Amino acid sequence: MTPLLGHAMKIGNTPLVKLQHFGTDPAIYAKLEWENPFGSVKDRAAYFMLKKAQEQGIISQRKVMEATSGNTGVALAGFCKSMGLEFTAVIPDRVSPDVKERIEKLGGKTIIIKEGTFPGEGGGTAQAIRYVRENSGGYFVPNQFENEANYEAHYNGTGPEIWDKIDVQYFVAGIGTGGTATGAGKYLSERGARVIAVEPKRSFKVPGLRNIEDSGISPLLQRHFDVIDELVKIDAEALSLVEYVMRNEGLFIGISSAAALAATIKLLKGKKGNAVVIFPDSGWNYVSFYEKVGLNLSNLQSVTPKNLLAGV
Ligand SMILES: Cc1ncc(COP(=O)(O)O)c(C=O)c1O
Repeated sequence: MTPLLGHAMKIGNTPLVKLQHFGTDPAIYAKLEWENPFGSVKDRAAYFMLKKAQEQGIISQRKVMEATSGNTGVALAGFCKSMGLEFTAVIPDRVSPDVKERIEKLGGKTIIIKEGTFPGEGGGTAQAIRYVRENSGGYFVPNQFENEANYEAHYNGTGPEIWDKIDVQYFVAGIGTGGTATGAGKYLSERGARVIAVEPKRSFKVPGLRNIEDSGISPLLQRHFDVIDELVKIDAEALSLVEYVMRNEGLFIGISSAAALAATIKLLKGKKGNAVVIFPDSGWNYVSFYEKVGLNLSNLQSVTPKNLLAGV
C-alpha cells in the first residue's frame, strides 16, 4: 500500500476571502474549500480517515466502501486510487450523474441506492448507510458519520487555519456529518466565537447537507452537538445568492455554500465583528441543477435577492 503522505502538503490551507458586497456588520469571510485537491471540503475528512486507518493498520483487505452523497466519494476515490486500494461508493439516486462519473473516472466503483429501498429508513444518505451496514463484509468502512478523524480533520486543520488569519466572532457551516461545523467550530469556540450550524428545510434538498428530521442526526454530530450555539433552517430562497455572488464577488458557489451564506446574512445582520462561512464546493458540481431551476449563468441579470439582502 502506498502511504498517503505525498498528499499532505496539498490538503487544506484553502483561501479565506473577504466578501465585498454583503456589508461590513459583520464582515463576512468565505473559506473556499473547493481549492482542495479533489474539489471539496470532504478531502479533509477523507484524507484523515484513511491516514488514521493506515496508521492503525486497519485497512487490511485493500477494499474500502463508504456511503456518501458525493464529495466524500470523489475524495475517497482519489486518495484510494493513489494508495492502490479498491473503492466502492454507495450513493443515493438523487445525487447528480456528474458525481457518479467523477468517482468512476478516479477508479472508484459506484452503487446507486433508490429512494425507498429500505422503507422507514429515512431519505437519501440514510438509505445508502443502511446498504453499507448490510453489505460491507470484507471492506474497511471509514464511516464519516461516526469517525472521529472527520471531526479531528477540522479541529486540527480548518479551525486553526481560520484563527491564524483573523479574529473570528461567528463561524457558520452547513451540516452533513457535522464534522466541519463541530470540529472547526470547537476550535474557534474555545477562542470565543459563536458557532452557527445550517440545515436545509425539508422542502429544500441540498447535496451534502442533511435535514435532521428527515435523515436523523449523525452519531458524530450527536457526540459534539454542544459545540453548536444555533441551528438555522434555510429554504430555496438561498439559491438566488448563486447568481448574485457570481456577478458581484466573482465566485461560483455550490448549493450548500449559498445555504450557509444565506444563514450568515439572515442571522447576523447588523452584528459587529468577523463572520467566517464555509463554502464546501463550487458551482461546477451543480451546473445541470442550476440550469434546471432557471439560473441563467451565461447572462447574469442584475437581480438582487431583496428579501435576503434587505438592510445589508
Ligand atoms: C457540498 C457539501 N456541503 C457541506 C457538507 C457538510 O460537511 P460535513 O459533512 O462536514 O458536515 C458536505 C458534506 O458532504 C458537502 O458535500
